[in-house]
Order: sequence, then structure tokens, then C-alpha cells
Amino acid sequence: MTNSETKATLSFSDGSPALEMPIYKGSIGPDVIDIRKLYGATGMFTYDPGFMSTAACNSSITYIDGDKGELLYRGYPIEQLAVNGGDFLETCYLLLNGELPNADQKKEFVATVTNHTMVHEQMQFFFRGFRRDAHPMSVLVGTVGALASFYHDSLDINDPHHREVSAIRLIAKMPTLVAMAYKYSIGQPFVYPRNDLSYSANFMHMMFSTPCEPYKTNEVLVRALDRILILHADHEQNASTSTVRLAGSSGANPFACIAAGIACLWGPAHGGANEAALSMLEEIGSVDNIPHFIAQVKDKNSGVKLMGFGHRVYKNYDPRAKLMRETCYEVLQELGLQDDPLFKLAMALEKIALEDEYFVSRKLYPNVDFYSGIVQRALGIPTALFTGIFALARTVGWIAQWKEMISDPEQKIGRPRQLFVGAAKRDVPPIDKR
Ligand code: CMC
Repeated sequence: MTNSETKATLSFSDGSPALEMPIYKGSIGPDVIDIRKLYGATGMFTYDPGFMSTAACNSSITYIDGDKGELLYRGYPIEQLAVNGGDFLETCYLLLNGELPNADQKKEFVATVTNHTMVHEQMQFFFRGFRRDAHPMSVLVGTVGALASFYHDSLDINDPHHREVSAIRLIAKMPTLVAMAYKYSIGQPFVYPRNDLSYSANFMHMMFSTPCEPYKTNEVLVRALDRILILHADHEQNASTSTVRLAGSSGANPFACIAAGIACLWGPAHGGANEAALSMLEEIGSVDNIPHFIAQVKDKNSGVKLMGFGHRVYKNYDPRAKLMRETCYEVLQELGLQDDPLFKLAMALEKIALEDEYFVSRKLYPNVDFYSGIVQRALGIPTALFTGIFALARTVGWIAQWKEMISDPEQKIGRPRQLFVGAAKRDVPPIDKR
């Protein structure tokens, strides 16, 4: 970041002295006003619930222009990465290292990741402690956090080599853990990873093969999964990434931080939206019920939202949604599911919502999760696991952001303040006067 010639001046109507604050420029995107001296100089905090106008850090990983509908990983547009950028592990390398790998770097990276795909055999006992009907996100919060108890050799966050090894372990083991959560839920044996397969093909193998018969991966479906992973790999300072950074700012180990990110992602306003979108479609049930459902969404007292629509940052369109929509058509065609009633219902809902004044005036467009749920369902992934797949994809983004934060000399423990509106200091009354 560079200092701007322009300064910001904060003046007060009560005649208190004005405060001049520096402005910094990024490479692209909005400038920021440095308010760090505000409290010391004025005794006041800024007030910004939901971080509507707050940059919590500087970062060089992912850039979003919500008005243009642009998403860049290390400068590269998501559309180019998804179409010509190679597979998901190339995106991982890019997010972690800042550049796309050359052939040798790619080979070495793939070999390193695949050498860490197995989890400690004792991990299965953690799984066995869960009820079979446990939500996979609760299983993932627990098991990813538990990884810290197995890898004492990579927990020193001040050692760059330890940070690197932990990052690789998390990226390599997430598919194994997500697949184990699924297998456990349906009572099938856990399937060990196969390192001769690509990252996404191996995940599908661990999800869908059984010891009884060989499993043949389908290239179209593997490509679709790879695209889901690429599109969800990072998304700037969203709620779960900010959670990972905040947890990490205290010096917590990376496994604990990623477990915190998974917990945050679980919420329906964030990663849980793909599951919620599909449940919504199932609840609507048929095209005939759409008008009634839309009427409920418009009624503020109903509490009903059109899940998979709207975004805090994208106000024109979500570039990931466009790519996911393409994949949706490709997968349904490959599987002969073009006439799937749920897909037809989704398309009818999409059309009505895109033309309806309520949604148009509020700039509510389908987001990536509206389509990713339909694709995942077609791939055979159960609804409850959708957010787990999102967590698997986002792990690389979380860990890249965590690494960036730890090596940032400006890094401090995150400690927001508050506007206190509770009772002022008062004395505890005697018991008989309460
Ligand atoms: N359905 C109906 N109305 C909506 C929706 C929706 N999905 N989203 C926003 N609105 C309305 C909202 O009621 C408000 O209307 P009004 O101005 O009349 O009060 C207006 O649009 C602005 O909404 P907001 O709540 O101020 O917008 P936000 O930026 O705080 O919320 C959001 C963004 C994603 C939380 C919200 O749009 C939402 O809950 N969408 C559904 C959940 C979803 O699909 N989330 C996935 C996001 S993409 C994946 C990810 O990055 O995690």
C-alpha cells in the first residue's frame, strides 16, 4: 500500500480539534482512511456493525469488485482460471504462492499434497464418537480441530516451515475428512485415498467407491467438482475468512483456526446457503407454488428469504454464479437429467425472480450457491454435505489468508471495541430489596 497525497480531516461540530488522518492506496479498489490514531486522539471509536465500511487488513490474495461483478485470485479473473487455469491444485498453488506454477512446480506441489492425503488411523475413533445422523459440519468442526492433536511437529506458527507443512496437511486431508464424514453417515467403510488420481477424482473415489466393486470416475463430473472447488477457493475478507484471521491473531494453531472458519461457514447466510437453497426448492415442490413462495419472500413479517439470491458485495451479478450455471447444464446433460423436476423448478424460479421488480430493484441476483447445490445433488452428494464441500474448497483460501496474516509485520491480535448501551455503574441492592 502507498500513502496518498490526500489526507482525511475529521472535524466536530462542538469545536473539538479536527483530526487529520492518512489515506492509503491499494493497487486497485477503494482507498482506506487510517483511523488507528482516532481513539488516542479523540477518545472515540468508529461504529460499523457488519463491517460495512471497514478494511480489517491489507491483503494481496483476492480482489472483488462487487459493482463490476469481478473476482480476481492474485490478479487473474475467475472466469479465466475456471476455464483455462488448470485444475484445483493449480489454483491452490496460486493462492498460496502468488503465481501460477510452472510444470516442475506443479509436479512437486501435487506430489507434496498427495503425500499427505491420509489421516492418522486413530482419527476414525473421533468419527465413531459421533451419532450417525450428526450434521457433517459438526463432524468437520470437531475433526479438523482434532488434527492439531496429531501434528505437534507443525504447530509453531512462528516457524515458516511449520506453517507451510500445516497448510499442505490441511489442503491434503480435508477431502479425506469430508469423505469420511459422509461414509460414516451412511454406515459404509471409510475409503483410503488413492494418490494416482487427481485431487477431485480422488475425492469422488473416497466418497463413492466401496470395497465391493471398482469405482470408475466420470471426467465430466470430476471437472464439475473441480470447478466448484476453484470457484469457492477464496473470497476476500468474508465472514469465515475473517473468523480464521481473528482466531489466528491470538496465535492459535492453524487447525484450530480452520475449525473456527468451518463453524462460521456453517451459517445459512454464508456457506450454508447452498444447502438452504436446495431445501427451499424441495419445500416449494412445484412450479405452481412459486407465486405463493415469492409472495412470502416479499412479506417482511414472514422471515422467508430467497436462498441462493443476494450478496453483500456483488450488486450486479456474481461471476461465480455464471460459471456454475454453465457447469449445471453440462452435468445435467451428461447425466441425462435435463428434465429433472427440481432443476426445472430452479430455472422457473430464477426466471421469475430475475424479472420481478422486488428483486431487480434490490439488485438481488442468483449467487454461486443457487446453482452449486443443484450440481452437487446431481453428482450424488447429499444436501447435508454441501457446506462441507464448500469448506473443503475454502480451506486453501483460509490457510493462504492465515499465512499472509502471520507474516504481516502490522499483524496484531484482533480486538474490536463497542458502543456500550447497557446499565451504567450501579450498586448491588441487598437481597430483600431485589
Ligand atoms: N431474499 C429476499 N430478500 C432479500 C434477500 C433474499 N435472499 N437478500 C436480501 N434481501 C433484501 C433484504 O430484505 C433487504 O430489503 P429491504 O431493503 O427492503 O429491507 C435488501 O434485500 C438488502 O438486503 P441486506 O440484508 O441489507 O443485504 P446484505 O448485503 O446484508 O445480505 C446476504 C447479503 C447474502 C446475507 C443476503 O442477500 C441473504 O441472506 N441471501 C440469502 C442467503 C445466501 O444466498 N447467501 C449466500 C451468499 S454467497 C456465498 C457466500 O459468499 O457465502
